[in-house]
Amino acid sequence: MSTNILAEPPAGSGLKAVPGSNTPGLVQVMKLRQDPFGFAETNRQKFGDVTFVHVFGTTIVSCAGPEAAERILMNKDRAFANGPAWGFFIDKFFHRGVMLLDFDEHRHHRLILQQAFTPTILKGYMQEMQPMIMNAMKQFPVRDVLLFNEFKQLTLDVALEVFLGLELPKKEADKINKAFIECVRAGVGLVRADVPFTRWGKGIRSRKVLEEFIYSHIPAKRAKETPDLFSVLCHAESEDGHRFTDEDVVNHILFVLMAAHDTSTITMSQMAYHMAKHPQWQEKAREQSLELNPELGYDDLGKLDVLDAIMKESLRMCTPVPAQPRMAVRDTEVNGYFIPEGTMVQVPNLSNHYRDDIWTNPFAFDPERYSAERKEDKAHRMAWMPFGGGVHKCIGLYFGQMEIKTIMHHLLRGYEWTIPDDYVLPMDYSALPVPKDKLPVTIRRR
Ligand code: HEM
Repeated sequence: MSTNILAEPPAGSGLKAVPGSNTPGLVQVMKLRQDPFGFAETNRQKFGDVTFVHVFGTTIVSCAGPEAAERILMNKDRAFANGPAWGFFIDKFFHRGVMLLDFDEHRHHRLILQQAFTPTILKGYMQEMQPMIMNAMKQFPVRDVLLFNEFKQLTLDVALEVFLGLELPKKEADKINKAFIECVRAGVGLVRADVPFTRWGKGIRSRKVLEEFIYSHIPAKRAKETPDLFSVLCHAESEDGHRFTDEDVVNHILFVLMAAHDTSTITMSQMAYHMAKHPQWQEKAREQSLELNPELGYDDLGKLDVLDAIMKESLRMCTPVPAQPRMAVRDTEVNGYFIPEGTMVQVPNLSNHYRDDIWTNPFAFDPERYSAERKEDKAHRMAWMPFGGGVHKCIGLYFGQMEIKTIMHHLLRGYEWTIPDDYVLPMDYSALPVPKDKLPVTIRRR
């Protein structure tokens, strides 16, 4: 690996040039996909925390560590934008989703979206989803199952009901599910053109399927208010009386469904894996769930502190959104390094969660690190950051945690699950991190 620099800093600025490797992009992508931790660590040892790589047909400056994360995500001087950075990966598939908007326009749309995530509305969602989840759990397969697939199906059903207020026949729900998967996987495809059978090509076709599906339901949603996100977005108004257009509604719904779906499935799969690998934690979490009623109330969520610690640790060890890209919209700096206008930077959430200057024994599953005595996650405001930070911080973080805990609560009460002693979950890091084998487990009714 030879050292090169990204760009010469302006004379007299006192800034340093970003070092990095000019190794061709394809080689870097392969290394990154195979072993993201090894890749990040090798680069860090050779070049430091701020370093560039050529990947996905562009150059990205990775800015590791909590200070860099704070600088970029809090973005006090508005030097970084989301749209051109996330847009590079997903604009074709999640055009004008709120995460792709910037500055005043982002604020305007986010304030309207926020109306669908107030505590009162969240309590309503919880009431809607609880019977669905309880019912699904009663019919949970008691045999060897691919747990990732089961969670995925369940979160999609919840999303369709709670966000869209629609009950779809299985065939149509499967079609929508497939279209989402294709859109999510498309952004990091190696071929970035509408070529049949490539990830990108499939993503473009899937976006059309999803758009037609949402557009077809808008007239009914505009006509009558119902307790779901789709309806809220059709009726919500900003202070100056502005309403989302049909196009806005489609773009936001598709983005939120995408943002809610895979992230929660990944988190639950990780939690289930760690609880199978460390059955003492499964038992501890079950004990707490058994102390509560089967039907979990909104106020009970805070009582599940063992499950909460397991969730936090799972989110640390496998952050569903492994990096947050941004584009420098003018010449700027990160940690004293010169970042020229037009440079794509990224906050590497996943590898930040393995820094040994913050986390003791970072590769060990250790939910006690969040205890009041240790509080490792509070070492820095950006130490534990699976939900990001700043104005784009995850809008669904309470919804996501509520859904995850409710599902796990019912699973723990009704079932035990195991994996062979020597089993290690094989991960696919080529898009969002998912288990390659869909997490096979043996389920027994309790
Ligand atoms: C464990 C589950 C989840 C994780 C780890 C997660 C993670 C994230 C992260 C890291 C971001 C910030 C991206 C950036 O700034 O570049 C984000 C944004 C977002 N998330 Fe989540 N998310 C989760 C669940 C959800 C759910 C359930 C919803 C919807 C109900 C949701 C909706 C959104 C939206 C709309 C944004 C964009 C916010 C904005 O740009 O203003 N997420 N999420």
